[in-house]
Amino acid sequence: MVKINTCIFISGKGSNLKNLINRSRDYNFPISIKLVVSNKKEALGIQHAKRNFIPYLIIDTKSRNFEHRLLIDLKKYNISLICLAGYMKILSKRFLRDFGKKVINIHPSLLPKFKGLKTFAKILKNKEKKTGCTVHFVDEKLDNGKIISQRFFFIDPTDNEDKIKNKTQKLEYLVFPESIIKIFRNR
Ligand code: GRF
Repeated sequence: MVKINTCIFISGKGSNLKNLINRSRDYNFPISIKLVVSNKKEALGIQHAKRNFIPYLIIDTKSRNFEHRLLIDLKKYNISLICLAGYMKILSKRFLRDFGKKVINIHPSLLPKFKGLKTFAKILKNKEKKTGCTVHFVDEKLDNGKIISQRFFFIDPTDNEDKIKNKTQKLEYLVFPESIIKIFRNR
């Protein structure tokens, strides 16, 4: 199978990156991870790139022209899909336009509910009965863009922020791969 050259953007732990690396080893899974990008040099997720011999780049989002330089690297690796997996920065409209290919993001809520940060605190405060995660196409607005896939679970009265986070992440490990399969199903 000809695989889609993919770049994963991270800022932290990288458990979704790890999961996607594992899934991408499957012959029938449509992507091959060619590059990892992190805006934090101390991000734990970089270890997953290193361990799997995947090239990685640390970017400085404060430096001028960083998006332009990043586009050159994405071109060098012939990247056709960017997956934002816990990447804590917003990509500019210009970057998205100039990249011109698919960019998707995973968010730990049932969008359009609870965009932005402190998701689990907001969910508890709002006394939600259920929650989950969403994979969506990225546009220049925060946690916006067409939804590709969602999954949910019912919140237990004993759930705290940590428990909700754990349950949500377990669903993320299903939803991210299934969204990728969905996008490229009719290729
Ligand atoms: C995930 O919960 C994702 O929904 C959010 O950031 C978290 C990243 O976790 N955008 P990890 O770095 O993949 O472990």
